Amino acid sequence: LSVKDEEDDIDVGLEKVKVTIFFGTQTGTAEGFAKALAEEIKARYDKAAVKVVDLDDYAEDDDQYEEKLKKETLAFFTLATYGDGEPTDNAARFYKWFTEGKDEGNVWLQQLTYGVFGLGNKQYEHFNKIAKVVDEKLSEQGAKRLIPVGLGDDDQSIEDDFAAWKESLWPELDKLLRDEDDMNTVSTPYTAAIPEYRLVIQDRNVTSCQDNNLNLANGSVVFDLHHPCRVRVAVQRELHKPESDRSCIHLEFDISGTGIAYETGDHVGVYAENCDETVEEAGKLLGQKLDLLFSLHTDNEDGTALGGSLPPFPGPCTLRTALARYADLLNPPRKAALVALAGHASEPSEAERLKFLSSPEGKDEYSKWVIGSQRSLLEVMAEFPSAKPPLGVFFAAIAPRLQPRYYSISSSPRFSPQRVHVTCALVCGPTPTGRIHKGVCSTWMKNAVSLEKSHDCSWAPIFIRPSNFNLPADHSTPIIMVGPGTGLAPFRGFLQERLALKEDGVQLGPALLFFGCRNRRMDFIYEDELMNFVEQGALSELIVAFSREGPEKDYVQHKMMDKSEYLWRLMSQGGYLYVCGDAKGMARDVHRTLHTIVQQQENVDSSKAEATVKKLQMDGRYLRDVW
Ligand code: 2AM
Repeated sequence: LSVKDEEDDIDVGLEKVKVTIFFGTQTGTAEGFAKALAEEIKARYDKAAVKVVDLDDYAEDDDQYEEKLKKETLAFFTLATYGDGEPTDNAARFYKWFTEGKDEGNVWLQQLTYGVFGLGNKQYEHFNKIAKVVDEKLSEQGAKRLIPVGLGDDDQSIEDDFAAWKESLWPELDKLLRDEDDMNTVSTPYTAAIPEYRLVIQDRNVTSCQDNNLNLANGSVVFDLHHPCRVRVAVQRELHKPESDRSCIHLEFDISGTGIAYETGDHVGVYAENCDETVEEAGKLLGQKLDLLFSLHTDNEDGTALGGSLPPFPGPCTLRTALARYADLLNPPRKAALVALAGHASEPSEAERLKFLSSPEGKDEYSKWVIGSQRSLLEVMAEFPSAKPPLGVFFAAIAPRLQPRYYSISSSPRFSPQRVHVTCALVCGPTPTGRIHKGVCSTWMKNAVSLEKSHDCSWAPIFIRPSNFNLPADHSTPIIMVGPGTGLAPFRGFLQERLALKEDGVQLGPALLFFGCRNRRMDFIYEDELMNFVEQGALSELIVAFSREGPEKDYVQHKMMDKSEYLWRLMSQGGYLYVCGDAKGMARDVHRTLHTIVQQQENVDSSKAEATVKKLQMDGRYLRDVW
């Protein structure tokens, strides 16, 4: 995308006030909020010339940020916090520049008035960190905060949080954007229009366009979120032992000839498909045949643009393909989706109930009936059989776009340059309504057919997301790895790398691995490989915690406590500590344990220990890859 100068693409007349809405989005929610905010500001204020900006597209290089920001006078930010308190990929460069590159006390943003709305989840430790930090930094640098930062919580209803934040915004914006003579009149209540794509049903003779946005092997192409590369599944096998009633899949993508390169510790983004059962159910609920060939368009028939310019996905394609690849069907629907469904329910009582669920009065019912019982979009649609939205509405306003899933790569390119390995636990279990929820990507991996088994094997569009979860540059540095369950994934890559280095004659520092699982006979994944790493000297010590073998829970952090003296000695020698796995339970508890170890070993109080842990983090010697 080329970046146009803002003056180029909106006409900011003399009487107009420029409003810029920046978004930092990972799965599209923050982007949707930014666009909705733009529409509402446009509808409310004739004076406003509004523009929505992807932070990644704002400036081509860092030097331009300052110059561009100096020209902004009124700006809003919708910013998601991702993973371990990190910015989204599209906001990462801006965030780094804005938070690290500025001198304290430099108030250069005095011309700017702003508001920030954050998207986060209270279950995570760094709740809305990015929004809070940007809000704080804007103010420190002289900008005027129009309203307090909004802290959206996706654990509850983030749409309600956004609505509440907007309600507090309007009176403030009225002062800036409404003319004196309008001030006494009540502004017209605003109802968002339900977005809809233009649907074109294709002739059967047109061949469907299966995947024209998936670049195939071409050395010069850089693959990313928007340009994934189609690769085959070379290997697929179960990692749990037969006694286990759960499943964990080892999968290898064949990247030979694609030009894809990766580093140990990187992530792979995988675009999986919904399973046939889900797709068929969706077809029935929509009252449409799955072999229907169609395309969707954002422009009018005469070619004039409606909003965006590109179709939401390549067409023509069959409804089967569209539902499998592009529709998120298993998450609970957002309130905006319920509004759109209500608009197409022919049964008045159903339309009423849908409207109620999406209304402020129905807040508790929505959080109980939809969110609390984890009702999927399909389950909700099944409860309202008269609601049969047209496909243009379904894909624009009801089913969000199916998102790629990210996995920590479990191989090393030194060991396995032609393959990207993934270690994936199957998500499968009952929800409060009795539905068996099957995770989209893990189910796809479970059912994937490998090239080993068939030439007609499974494939998926993938791309690499680089990370800073990498081995120390100096291989003699001690490393401590903590990775229970599938948290083991990146460490398998680390150990492959170390084995390859060792075979090349490189001198290695000590390496400790804390692994945890339920039971040695069931879910001790890659057991033989780990033993082999120890035998070969790539791993100095493997310490395992089995949580369900004895009467008491034995967890990795308990084993860390047992070894606290040795562990801290390695850290004091400049060691690196890596933690990978579940963020809400394990990583939080491991963090506390680390804190305790520092306190005991250094014989310091809690706040000193906290400072030491912070310093390790700042120095990049305590790294986390958690979800
Ligand atoms: P559990 O399921 O028996 O409680 C991999 O998932 C391993 O991590 C399992 O043995 C699991 O134990 C364990 N685990 C669960 N919660 C944890 C926590 N808060 N800290 C450390 N390990 C945990």
